[in-house]
Amino acid sequence: MHGGVDNIRYSPLSQINKSNVTQLKVAWTYDSKDAFPTSEMQSHPVVVDGTLYVTTPSMKVAAVDAATGQERWTFNLAPAGAPRARFRHRGVTVHQDRVFATYRNFLYALDRATGKPIPTFGTDGRIDLREGLGLPVERASVSASTPGSIFGDLIIFGSSVPETLPGTPGHIRAFDVRTGKLRWIFHTIPQAGEFGSDTWPKGPTLSGGANAWAGVTVDQGNAMVFAATGSASFDWYGVNRHGDNLFADSVLALDARTGKRVWHYQVIKHDLWDWDMPTAPNLVTVMRNGKPVQAVAQLTKHGYVFVLDRKTGVPLFPVEERRAPESTIDGEQAAARQRHPLQPPPYTRQQMTEAMVTTRTPEAHAAVLKQFRELTSGPLFTPPTNGLIVFPGVDGGAEWGGGAFDPDTGLLYVNANEMPWIMRLIPNTDTALYGSKCASCHRSDRTGGPQAPSLVDVGKRLSRDDIAGIIRTGTGRMPGFPDMGAKNIGDVVEFLVTGKDQANDAAIAADPNRLKYRNDGEVLWRDPDGYPPITPPWGTLSALDLNAGTMKWQKPLGEYPELVAKGMKDTGSDNYGGPVVTAGGLLFIAATNFDKKLRAFDKLTGALVWETVLPFAGNATPSTYMLNGKQYLVIACGGGKNGAPSGSTIVAFALP
Ligand code: HEC
Repeated sequence: MHGGVDNIRYSPLSQINKSNVTQLKVAWTYDSKDAFPTSEMQSHPVVVDGTLYVTTPSMKVAAVDAATGQERWTFNLAPAGAPRARFRHRGVTVHQDRVFATYRNFLYALDRATGKPIPTFGTDGRIDLREGLGLPVERASVSASTPGSIFGDLIIFGSSVPETLPGTPGHIRAFDVRTGKLRWIFHTIPQAGEFGSDTWPKGPTLSGGANAWAGVTVDQGNAMVFAATGSASFDWYGVNRHGDNLFADSVLALDARTGKRVWHYQVIKHDLWDWDMPTAPNLVTVMRNGKPVQAVAQLTKHGYVFVLDRKTGVPLFPVEERRAPESTIDGEQAAARQRHPLQPPPYTRQQMTEAMVTTRTPEAHAAVLKQFRELTSGPLFTPPTNGLIVFPGVDGGAEWGGGAFDPDTGLLYVNANEMPWIMRLIPNTDTALYGSKCASCHRSDRTGGPQAPSLVDVGKRLSRDDIAGIIRTGTGRMPGFPDMGAKNIGDVVEFLVTGKDQANDAAIAADPNRLKYRNDGEVLWRDPDGYPPITPPWGTLSALDLNAGTMKWQKPLGEYPELVAKGMKDTGSDNYGGPVVTAGGLLFIAATNFDKKLRAFDKLTGALVWETVLPFAGNATPSTYMLNGKQYLVIACGGGKNGAPSGSTIVAFALP
């Protein structure tokens, strides 16, 4: 897990502090030179015994000297000839003699000294994460973009699984660090007779999801594991999953030795917005009536933070259950009530109103206002329609960078986006397989979106065999369709290469995963010039006081350089990647997509004390470490978000 198993991203180091941070200089850089258009690097570097371990844009694991940046070894997780994956990786886990890294459906154990797979782990150094989930291996589509967390001799994983049908369940699993054997499994979608199964329709489910894609947190002292899950699939239309859908969108507390549930707390019932819990719980200690209380803090995409007692799951601040709007879509049964914590205050705006329509230029205002009036907007939890403004958006609020917690002050830091998205639920009238199976991610016109790449002209980039292979087995975050059969896969390949779409009513009628509605992509809404369609802030950094339940400070985070040149400053911008807080009184964060800056703030006041421009946007969480008497701050600069240039540089800073 990035940021330590307790997931608080706090460092006790203070050599770099408020008095000298302005003297920070680049100490070394390392470039793996394997960036490609749209590639990213979300990797959080891990430093052990003077070596830094990180993953690169094309899915190599690299070990470099943490004092000089000199490469020690690399291991290419992608087999030779594999289609170039846009698989995102948040890094590796280093434990004893080995480095654990995931690639698609595989978990590798590499020798820490040489980077070679360790033959005694699984089969030839890897295990297949599709095994042991209780469904045929070729039907499962699972990967893990967040590294596993260690407890004793266990490595514990959440997973990434499709948002569509047929689903793969997001069960949480612990594997033996020596052999790779499955040691325990917790069913995040309960099986018949298990606790929570009454929150689902009777009978076997096609649903999957309820997956902790942001990894798990380990409480060593209490021998507990905490996870936070995402939506159940199909994500946007819940006709196949009437009910609250435990343990989707829940905070889970498990016994680390057995995987047995200790408690759970469901944050969103019957999610229809893709508001997955975007980060694992933070282990925090807060003061209540003058006494320290162990708790977990759960950040969300929709702008709330839930603070729960660590032993019982009971909220430490009042939470109100309020009536939620009803769905107008045939067959949908939205949850009647949803939970709203009264403290701390939300760290984003939570409803887009007409007053928030952009005023950046009169033309942009007029265009966005027209669209706004055609779309559905409403309070939090307004269910999808044929054009719903999802705000906060599908990418938060908070995202996978998560929060940082300062045990000295009780402050929880969170960076957030304020970006409306548009979600269109449309009747599923396609008679051809592409529209029926692929368009929900790649869109009907094949232009793709934030969820999936464009497939326009894919026939010029990939051979027919490559495309058929991708459809059969999936790639990166894309699920495979092993059940489609060669003839149907051939039809889709033909369509992608030649544009000729074969109606295939028989195959579609026989498809149990076909629902009456599907989504037509999820689209980040921009104004006609490509800027957010609302008034700033578009991205923020907040300090929440978890003792008092208040907001200590909040600032815009990030800028668009070309708007700054026109005098439009401090707007905030899209940002991905988390903060690190230190005993040196500083909060470090990069994350901003377009100004490519790495910033240091005074952690108590939020005053900006230092900033520098990185070679590419640092859409990752920085790490800090001490080596030979020197404190380093290091960050992966991979860019590639929202059209920003992609790179493959790791940059380390230190005092001269
Ligand atoms: C759940 C969303 C989803 C669905 C459904 C989906 N895809 Fe994808 N697809 C993706 C994502 C995400 C990627 C990028 C994969 C990566 O590298 O992470 C992708 C990649 C691809 C690629 C490789 C593109 C390239 O340039 O390398 C092809 C080809 C493709 N998809 C075809 C299809 C076809 C055909 C279907 C329907 C049978 C389909 N996809 C259904 C999400 C999806």
